[in-house]
Amino acid sequence: MRVTNRFLLYVSIACVVADAFEPITTTVVVGLGVTLGRIIYNYSQESCDSKWVAFNATGLKVDLEQKLFGQHIASRIVLKALTGFMNNAQPKKPLVLSLHGSTGTGKNFVSQIIAENIYKEGMDSSFVHVFTSELHFPHASKIDTYKSQLQQWIKGNVTNCGRSMFIFDEMDKMHPGLIDSIKPYLEYYDKVDGVCYRKAIFIFLSNAGGESITQIALDFWRAGQDRQTIDLKDLEVPLSLSVFNNKQSGLWHTSLIDKNLVDYFVPFLPLEHKHIVQCALAEMEAKGMVKNHEVADQLARDLVYFPKAERVFSVKGCKTIESKLDYYT
Ligand SMILES: Nc1ncnc2c1ncn2[C@@H]1O[C@H](COP(=O)(O)OP(=O)(O)OP(=O)(O)O)[C@@H](O)[C@H]1O
Ligand SMILES: [Mg+2]
Repeated sequence: MRVTNRFLLYVSIACVVADAFEPITTTVVVGLGVTLGRIIYNYSQESCDSKWVAFNATGLKVDLEQKLFGQHIASRIVLKALTGFMNNAQPKKPLVLSLHGSTGTGKNFVSQIIAENIYKEGMDSSFVHVFTSELHFPHASKIDTYKSQLQQWIKGNVTNCGRSMFIFDEMDKMHPGLIDSIKPYLEYYDKVDGVCYRKAIFIFLSNAGGESITQIALDFWRAGQDRQTIDLKDLEVPLSLSVFNNKQSGLWHTSLIDKNLVDYFVPFLPLEHKHIVQCALAEMEAKGMVKNHEVADQLARDLVYFPKAERVFSVKGCKTIESKLDYYT
């Protein structure tokens, strides 16, 4: 139930009860009801304190281990980055993570897991803000308006709560000028215009570099090497090269990278048949269905995989599982 509805409900209960009494008692009862309502309202209104904003390191670890499939590198980096940052009372700069990988590999999903383990309200928290390039900044001609709006938005929200989280989706489609406009907030400044940004978290999501990550994963697969043996250092150079060389991608025209403002580049590997099965089983559970391995396997087998001959990686990752499940059950 929404907080406001809850407040109104308590007030109306108080009024119904009050109907049974004479005027003076009525005033007292209504007064009490309203006060009670206010207390409950204030109590259930999200605020920027430890009741609503508290990092759950164990929760994050367990969620990454149990809910995120096939991403041993991303899982490790995210846990390490968040634990270090959240346990540091005086971080020198905001935490900036850049998540890379092909479609449906879990980038938004990981952002959601992070939000759920910091904010009691998870992605619904009023301290979590998601921007999607093509949705929020669609017209290149309006770039100057977007710039000042975005800056005001970030400033206003961090002033309101230092522990704010900003997720920029489709970062590779974002106008370079717009990315440049958020740079001051990511720097090592103590304060910008009197506002301290050092406890904020910025997460950038993009498909940039996805192809080179996939190529490395394929090389390992062809060499018969276990996927778990792929290490961050196997991906770092190809990832940064492909990202730097991708002139299409807005992100890389900016000096975000050479100024070292991104703390961690987080690669997401392409998903295999067995991960799709896991996603399908998780989805069944989420829908309150009995987990059916045969159906999950059939659904996974019917997806499109690449390279065509070997059928190693799912083209859309786990992305269409949720809607497909209705068809299979
Ligand atoms: N590695 C994974 N482990 C578990 N579930 C996953 C994983 N990847 C994707 N999923 C499931 O698929 C859904 C879609 O994935 P998500 O939106 O995170 O993909 P994405 O990487 O952001 O893709 P895109 O680049 O297209 O935005 C998630 O909500 C989640 O249910
Ligand atoms: Mg996404």
